[in-house]
Amino acid sequence: MLITHASQLITLSGGPQRGSDLGRLGIMEDGAVLIRGSSIVETGRTAELLAKFPAEETLEAAGRVVMPGFVDPHTHVVWAGSRAKEFEMRLEGKSYMEIMAAGGGINATVQATREAAYETILGQTRSRLNAMFRNGTTTAEVKTGYGLETGAELVQLKAIRELDHEGPLELAPTFLGAHAVPPEYSGNVEGYVDLLVAKMIPAVIAWWQENCPAEPLPFVDVFCEKGVFDLEQTRRILSCAKDQGFPLKLHVDEFENLGGASLAAEMSAASADHLVKTSGEDIRNLAQSDTVAVALPCTPFGLGDPHYTPAKEIIAAGGLLALASDINPGTAWCGNMQFVIALACRAMGLTPSQAIAAATINAAAAIRRADRIGTLEPGKQADLLILSTDDYRDLAYRFGGNLIQTVIKKGVIYPSASQA
Ligand code: NIG
Ligand code: FE
Repeated sequence: MLITHASQLITLSGGPQRGSDLGRLGIMEDGAVLIRGSSIVETGRTAELLAKFPAEETLEAAGRVVMPGFVDPHTHVVWAGSRAKEFEMRLEGKSYMEIMAAGGGINATVQATREAAYETILGQTRSRLNAMFRNGTTTAEVKTGYGLETGAELVQLKAIRELDHEGPLELAPTFLGAHAVPPEYSGNVEGYVDLLVAKMIPAVIAWWQENCPAEPLPFVDVFCEKGVFDLEQTRRILSCAKDQGFPLKLHVDEFENLGGASLAAEMSAASADHLVKTSGEDIRNLAQSDTVAVALPCTPFGLGDPHYTPAKEIIAAGGLLALASDINPGTAWCGNMQFVIALACRAMGLTPSQAIAAATINAAAAIRRADRIGTLEPGKQADLLILSTDDYRDLAYRFGGNLIQTVIKKGVIYPSASQA
């Protein structure tokens, strides 16, 4: 199949974009893409590819933007229940961490998810994933973390695997057993860390070897935050995971600075995420590593907090910046990467081209899939979007709607529901 006449073919060719390199879109005007099966074979000018492949079936982009699908490298999309009541409590003056310390927050969703039937979890998550796909996300990382005991965490992992196989949205799993201290261990954080290290992480390995031995291990992530897991507890959990061969991720500096970003860099984590209260020293350490800095602007927006990730400082220091939705029932009930891009430009000062690169190739690097997805280059997976506009800047300039006309996943065409 040959996609022809893209007003702007956004190739993003050349790999992850560090520091001032961020925003190199590699735009080809009147562009075309040749797809065979699930892969991209060639990109070029429409006239050139039509002449070279005259017998090819064509898909007319008709003067619209063609670009890689969005990669969302940080989501908590598997959950049951609602926390609308907590949203209202926050508007009445309670803070997120106060609600969590009183037994609500993450543990409220843990209770709802533990009590839900497997089919309910699957059904609710599936409809959220389908909405993300219609809004242009073609690959998403998905965390466990609403089970917080071995069996319930494995149920979440199973749901992630099942929904990944179902498609079309492709999923990269993460074990987040260290998302919070469950009620059974209230006041005994060390006891829960012991359980994670001695029982839960080994159980994940055993489950993985039994169910998907040929696939790479999931990421292991920890919520490193004052009142959740401190730096030493985080180090213990991550060291255990790393020793057993897991790739790492980390939630850091969402509310307070504990030095987690430097720890992520030191341990060669794939990414350090949130980064709101990050110090200059942490930013420098991160920038000197291959750990991707993932900003989640929907989280402060969802909390009504005016503090956002210092994205410009991260770029100036030479860091690798990515964007993600963080979709979850507590802080950010939004999985729309178009909104993430529009918000990142306004709240963190990114340009539209920087935000787009951060939501595609750099987001792919944050889940260690930059070799397969995130750009339109020969040999890469055919995950593409056709927008309903001729100008990529509309993704940031306009907001609150859906500018995705067509999603192509592994070479298969899915019409979206653009309201443009
Ligand atoms: O990334 N910070 C921890 N995890 C989520 C919130 C999860 C929840 O509140 O349910 C976050 O913001
Ligand atoms: Fe998160």
